[in-house]
Amino acid sequence: MKCVKVKKKKAQTMLNILRKKDLLNNNYKNESDKNYVYIPVIEDTKKKFPDLNFIDKNLVKVETKDNLKQMLENKLSKKELDKLITSFDVIGNIAIIQVPDELIKKQKVIAQCLLKLNKNIKTVLKRAGIHKGEFRTLNLEHIAGIDTKQTIHKENGVKIKLDVEKVYFSPRSSTERKRISGLVKDEEKILVMFSGCAPFPLVLAKNTNAQKITGVELNPIAHKYAKENLTLNKINNIELYLGDVRKIVPTLAEFDRILMPLPKTGEDFLDIALNASKNKSIIHFYDFSDEKDFPDLSINKIKKAAEKFNLSFKVLDSVKCGDYSPGVHRVCIDFQITKICGEEQSQ
Ligand SMILES: C[S@@+](CC[C@H](N)C(=O)[O-])C[C@H]1O[C@@H](n2cnc3c(N)ncnc32)[C@H](O)[C@@H]1O
Repeated sequence: MKCVKVKKKKAQTMLNILRKKDLLNNNYKNESDKNYVYIPVIEDTKKKFPDLNFIDKNLVKVETKDNLKQMLENKLSKKELDKLITSFDVIGNIAIIQVPDELIKKQKVIAQCLLKLNKNIKTVLKRAGIHKGEFRTLNLEHIAGIDTKQTIHKENGVKIKLDVEKVYFSPRSSTERKRISGLVKDEEKILVMFSGCAPFPLVLAKNTNAQKITGVELNPIAHKYAKENLTLNKINNIELYLGDVRKIVPTLAEFDRILMPLPKTGEDFLDIALNASKNKSIIHFYDFSDEKDFPDLSINKIKKAAEKFNLSFKVLDSVKCGDYSPGVHRVCIDFQITKICGEEQSQ
């Protein structure tokens, strides 16, 4: 890492000059020893200030979000900096940021700093609302960089192509997708209800020895990308259906494992999942849950549905796998059908 080595007492002045000229490499932290400060700089610095003392040194990387605040220090007022939301999602090379109303006039500056800070980000979009409707999609506004909403995201060994506005996708669920992959046994037949552009089917196909994975999705654009993603990843044990889970799943065979990644209204589809299961099938039921209700309320939803079918089940695991809003988690209840009527569920 290229740095400028400068005497401690001159460090602040040097920092101010380099910052003003946009020559700081904000991806790394300054370091110091007894007498000197080492300031990470970009390549161009040598051309502009050839007489400085340049050395190569390994410096600690800075989180982009910390960096963003630092980089905006002389572009936003103290009050504006306090309002800044430094966390953001990255899907492929698109960053999705949130801009509070008070900072709308500064959104371009914020987005441009983000582009500068993270060379993998080529586009910055702003969230304009929340996930809504049957397709759980999100309105997004282009702020800076390449004007596109299509990208290819990489996770868990797969490539996922999608339009981030027209298709639901959360990069934050990658750990959960990995967790489920770790539970799958050889030769399983798996159903992914609400499969979107196929992140779950792809990750399961790539990371397990499942025999077949079936995905069902209502959003035609998500389904189109899902089909494209099978080719992109050269996968041939996934079968995809476009349509309503309620209509399609009853026409399919039984499954060893069923995923229900629709936390908002998933409980309305528990009957469909139970109907497509057999003895020993495992179901992953996603739900939103208040901290205080976890996991009882979600388990009670399963209990109510299972009673109607006269089915028994045992809970294998209850996990928090994301945050929906303060104090409200995205949760998953893993449960197994035991079919032995009247048996108490064990938790
Ligand atoms: C929360 S998203 C999850 C998408 C994907 N599994 C993922 O993890 O990125 C829920 C998906 O369910 C789809 N969906 C909603 N209702 C449906 C239904 N009745 N039948 C099939 N898919 C449905 C939506 O279009 C959306 O793509």
